[in-house]
Amino acid sequence: MNHISVIVKPTLACNIGCRHCYHGHANPDAAISTETMEKVIRLASEEYESAWFIWHGGEPLLLPLRFYKKMIEMQNRYFGKGSFRVSNTIQTNGTLIDKRFAGFCEENKINVGVSFEGPCNNVLRERTGDVQKNLDMMKKGGHMFSVSATICRETAKDLDAIYRSTVKEGIALSLSPVICSGAATQEMVPDADGYADASISVFEEWLYDTDAKVPLMPHMQYVMSILGDPSRSDCAHSSCLMKWISVYPDGSLYPCGKGCPPEFRLCGIDDIEHLSDAFRTDAMEGMFTASIERREKCREMCELFDHCNGGCSIDALSEGSMSENDGTSCRIFKKVFAHIRGEINGIVTGRRDLSRYNKFVRDAVIGKLVNPNIISF
Ligand SMILES: C[S@@+](CC[C@H](N)C(=O)[O-])C[C@H]1O[C@@H](n2cnc3c(N)ncnc32)[C@H](O)[C@@H]1O
Repeated sequence: MNHISVIVKPTLACNIGCRHCYHGHANPDAAISTETMEKVIRLASEEYESAWFIWHGGEPLLLPLRFYKKMIEMQNRYFGKGSFRVSNTIQTNGTLIDKRFAGFCEENKINVGVSFEGPCNNVLRERTGDVQKNLDMMKKGGHMFSVSATICRETAKDLDAIYRSTVKEGIALSLSPVICSGAATQEMVPDADGYADASISVFEEWLYDTDAKVPLMPHMQYVMSILGDPSRSDCAHSSCLMKWISVYPDGSLYPCGKGCPPEFRLCGIDDIEHLSDAFRTDAMEGMFTASIERREKCREMCELFDHCNGGCSIDALSEGSMSENDGTSCRIFKKVFAHIRGEINGIVTGRRDLSRYNKFVRDAVIGKLVNPNIISF
């Protein structure tokens, strides 16, 4: 087997209580045990050529640095030190980042993802602390990080301000809409057209920013998909089932890091001898059946299927049913993707002056022009 992405929830506890959290607010403080993690790391190393560990939660920085030191030691032991078979990302709300943590991540080549909505950070989050100060410290120290902004109905109109406070400051940004799950209510979910229009507007700003130093996501992933890139990195559009797994503090395994209902608990880590055993369970079968049904409808109905792969099963569930499409996430994808495809087709077929575009799109299009057989428009 090739590669597995493991989303670890070392704790479901959190220090800021986001109003929209898909895990809700009644989570125990318990932390994952090193024994559980040792088994996860061992099984991943025995079965897969490479693994990406995403430390998530809850708030992963509620665990002390010594926990993460231990995890790196275990990964070195099982995957081989310096073997390039394993990579790590810590996804944090940014409130607890300090210089020691930043130095540790740099030393161990750990990607840092910070959930942050710039000037709108207090709209969804109850206690925000001074995340901006921590990000400034990271920037000043030359530490790499990127920002994920979760957009609700209220902040969709402020996407431009969020873009300016991140991308314009050289901080890579990924945008995603709130889904109606856990503590989130339907009122928090952005209006599909309003979100898509705002997303297109920041894409246009970024596309024509010849000084842009960082990518904008998921837009850049869409550009790559349009240009025929076979190695899609966003889980929502790459048929994620059996390629991603999530470990909870009690050792329960779930197919996804987004808050899953209890019936999607696959099994416990103590119940299996191979990580992929978790994918041969009744819970997984139920998820497969519903997802395949949705994807078959998408394949028949939608010309974007090859780029979208039927979207995210958990998003579909939060929008009514895992076997149905055409919810908010589907409508946003169609509108944003179609716009970007129009732009990219125009650039490639019109042989437009590439110096008008940012370097990410420019390089991707040059790659396509140098190797035009990758895809035909
Ligand atoms: C659950 S948190 C866990 C990791 C860490 N505490 C953090 O804030 O990044 C991970 C991400 O999930 C997002 N998230 C939580 N609930 C969501 C929902 N209902 N819809 C969309 N994204 C959500 C958060 O905004 C955050 O960016």
